[in-house]
Amino acid sequence: MFNCALILAAGEGKRMKSDTPKVLHKVCGKEMVNQVIDTVRKSGITDIDVVIGRGAEKVKMATDSRKVHYSIQEEQMGTGHAVMCSSEFLMGKKGIVAIFTGDAPLISEESIKKLVDFHSKGGFKATILTSIVACADGYGRIIRKDNGEVYKIVEHKDCSGSELEVREINSGMYCFDIEALLDSLDKLNNNNSQGEYYLTDVIGILAHEGHKIGAVPVPSEETMGVNSRAQLSEAEGVLRKRINEKHMVNGVTLIDPNTTYIDVDVEIGSDTIIYPGNVIQGNTFIGEKCFLYPNSRISNSTIGREVTIQSSVILDSKVGENTTVGPFAYVRPDSVIGKSARIGDFVEIKKSIIGDNTKVSHLTYIGDAEIGKNCNFGCGTVVVNYDGKSKCKTIVGNNVFIGCNTNLIAPVTVHEDTYIAAGSTITDEVPAGALAIARAKQVNKEGWVYKRNLIK
Ligand code: UD1
Ligand code: MG
Repeated sequence: MFNCALILAAGEGKRMKSDTPKVLHKVCGKEMVNQVIDTVRKSGITDIDVVIGRGAEKVKMATDSRKVHYSIQEEQMGTGHAVMCSSEFLMGKKGIVAIFTGDAPLISEESIKKLVDFHSKGGFKATILTSIVACADGYGRIIRKDNGEVYKIVEHKDCSGSELEVREINSGMYCFDIEALLDSLDKLNNNNSQGEYYLTDVIGILAHEGHKIGAVPVPSEETMGVNSRAQLSEAEGVLRKRINEKHMVNGVTLIDPNTTYIDVDVEIGSDTIIYPGNVIQGNTFIGEKCFLYPNSRISNSTIGREVTIQSSVILDSKVGENTTVGPFAYVRPDSVIGKSARIGDFVEIKKSIIGDNTKVSHLTYIGDAEIGKNCNFGCGTVVVNYDGKSKCKTIVGNNVFIGCNTNLIAPVTVHEDTYIAAGSTITDEVPAGALAIARAKQVNKEGWVYKRNLIK
């Protein structure tokens, strides 16, 4: 059987009060619509059409056009109308279309499989994914006959008193027989409180025509729709819990999962221990047996095994195994820190390579530099990479000992096996094996203070 999917993502999301289209708001670091796309693909459906409208260009830019097809809904006239806009994509196809909304990011791949399976085995024309919830406010209600058969969905705003009591809600996710869906869309009208073409009315139309409607209940934490900032944070909380549980199952210790924030696509090796207040973002990979002490942000970075990090920020960079970072270090994009290195307190590294076993222990800035192995940077060293107009490179070879409070004025090269005296301002190449001293010679003026009677 040939299956495809639609993801409705053209709505404005008025209740978010945002310039960003609703479906591009992120949960655990990933745009809701991308979260839905990825989960649908993992469930085995790869022929996906995303219906876009409000902020269409932004949604297109933020999604991967190699993974999905797009249909445009120029004017937002409801979820039924959104599906009509996809008719070119659906036309001529036979089989099942699964429909999702770009604002319900918590659906699991297992539940999608269950929905498709239940629909195909039951021979239904339509199957709805539903949930039983404590508070059904804002959701369409599943209305069943006395014999339990589903016969319509009524939107919250159109509910009668008794319908408002119903706790079984429409998740906004369904499976349809494609031909039956296309036929029913022609019969939709917008006679409802919102003046919209509701996709939900297709259910009533099919039931009325005598078709049996399937319903698959799944836990409400999978069907939650995000229409407001409060719901966005709620969805984030649910997903965060899921992510953290997955890592714990994989052998990662989270001292306090409630205060550990890990994005969806992060990978972490076993026996790594993570303390509270860590924020691990994007496509970050963390090796085995690392210690992440409290309060770091690590984004789009690769951290080797047995690395220790504390209270630091690491962005778009690589850190080799057995290295220590922090406390209070700032590793800026495009940096590569070697193995068994040390990036200590109040050290900033920008777009630089730091060799294995090199120690940059305190109060140092290194920018646009390539530093060799086994070097030692004294406290307060500054790579002067910017002359006010352009950024220049600094090259430091292996086995270089740099005394405290040194300035390396770029462009400059310090060759291997060298020493630089503390307080030097290095402007010229330092040849291999040399000691460079670049500071004024000390002069002592004997008795100068006493002669002037300066002691009070
Ligand atoms: C919808 C369902 C409701 C269900 C709820 C689950 C309808 C009429 N109602 O309500 O039964 O309980 O989802 O979360 O279907 N969209 C478009 N074009 C439009 C309108 C909406 O693409 O013209 C998209 C939105 O971007 C969104 C999704 O459809 O991703 C749902 O729209 P929304 O306005 O959030 O519908 P709900 O009121 O949540
Ligand atoms: Mg919604």
